[in-house]
Amino acid sequence: MAKTIFSGIQPSGTLHIGNYLGAIKQWVDLQRDNQAYFCIVDLHAITVPYDNEHLSDHVLNAAATYLAASIDPDHATIFVQSHVPAHTELAWLLSCVTPLGELKRMTQFKEKSERQKGEVTLGLFAYPVLQAADILLYQTDIVPVGEDQVQHIELARDIARRFHNRFEKEEEESILTIPKPQINKNTARIMSLSNPTKKMSKSDEPKSHIALTDEPSIIKKKIMSAVTETEPVFSFTHSGPAVRNLLTIYQGFSEEEPAAIEDKFTGCGYQEFKEALAKLLIEKLTPIQKKYKDKRQPEDLKIILAEGKAKAEQVANQTLIQVKQKMGLL
Ligand code: AMP
Ligand code: TRP
Repeated sequence: MAKTIFSGIQPSGTLHIGNYLGAIKQWVDLQRDNQAYFCIVDLHAITVPYDNEHLSDHVLNAAATYLAASIDPDHATIFVQSHVPAHTELAWLLSCVTPLGELKRMTQFKEKSERQKGEVTLGLFAYPVLQAADILLYQTDIVPVGEDQVQHIELARDIARRFHNRFEKEEEESILTIPKPQINKNTARIMSLSNPTKKMSKSDEPKSHIALTDEPSIIKKKIMSAVTETEPVFSFTHSGPAVRNLLTIYQGFSEEEPAAIEDKFTGCGYQEFKEALAKLLIEKLTPIQKKYKDKRQPEDLKIILAEGKAKAEQVANQTLIQVKQKMGLL
């Protein structure tokens, strides 16, 4: 049966191959037989210091990236979070059934607030409640994300249950669907190329990640300088974390069986393996980059985003009205 799918990415700079393998690649498959919403979550992007002069460009970049990666506006609803005010409104309502203690446990909040030595905003603390609102507005069944988001989806489940217990009759079907995270086991956590104990992230130094927009020469340079262990062992189970990560990236893009990849490279040196990996990445990313250039037309993108907003809003507003009724607002 068709399911409702919801996911989002923050428009905070260029997307990298971790975002692609962890999230977007799954979206492409899911959009076909389901009702899918893919949101550009600009209100989440402003919870940490950001460049307000370029935010709107980043939103358009993200939209063009979705299209370049084969998200199809005829199948999926693509829209910008701040264009649908129901998201912030539901976030407030849900914040009144979210215990502070739950938010204090969020590991991403702890990490991000440590990284920002200066001021931590209320927005950053409330971030997971806004994310719960994003998901719960659409009766979402499945949220395809990378592993770092699982704790946030669990909080959204918990908030939906609390809402039910507090405002609905026990036997009554809830107006809020309990969502499930969906992670792609193999590629749920792509690690940094310069430090395989850290998640690949756009906020780290450039050589740690490959942006979807990197030129072939840059891709090659970054892969050739990626850290490895000392002995060349090509095994998804026995290699060290650096090589396992490179093998995982190879697997994500080639979609070959792990055993076939191990066989292919056993006996090779790292140089040969890295050359093959760089070649594969260039081969897979070049068509996405070409399509990105075609699709990065502000006026065309704005039309797609306006259509997305209209479709999203219809569903979101209905949920919001029902939530307000249940909560007793006049
Ligand atoms: P963000 O860039 O934080 O908005 O993340 C967008 C999506 O990409 C989320 O579903 C993340 O879980 C996923 N993601 C981000 N970094 C990685 C990574 N290094 N490996 C796998 N998935 C990731
Ligand atoms: N917090 C997510 C991230 O950093 C982005 C996000 C916001 C999201 N709202 C969402 C993901 C709803 C899935 C569903 O990656």
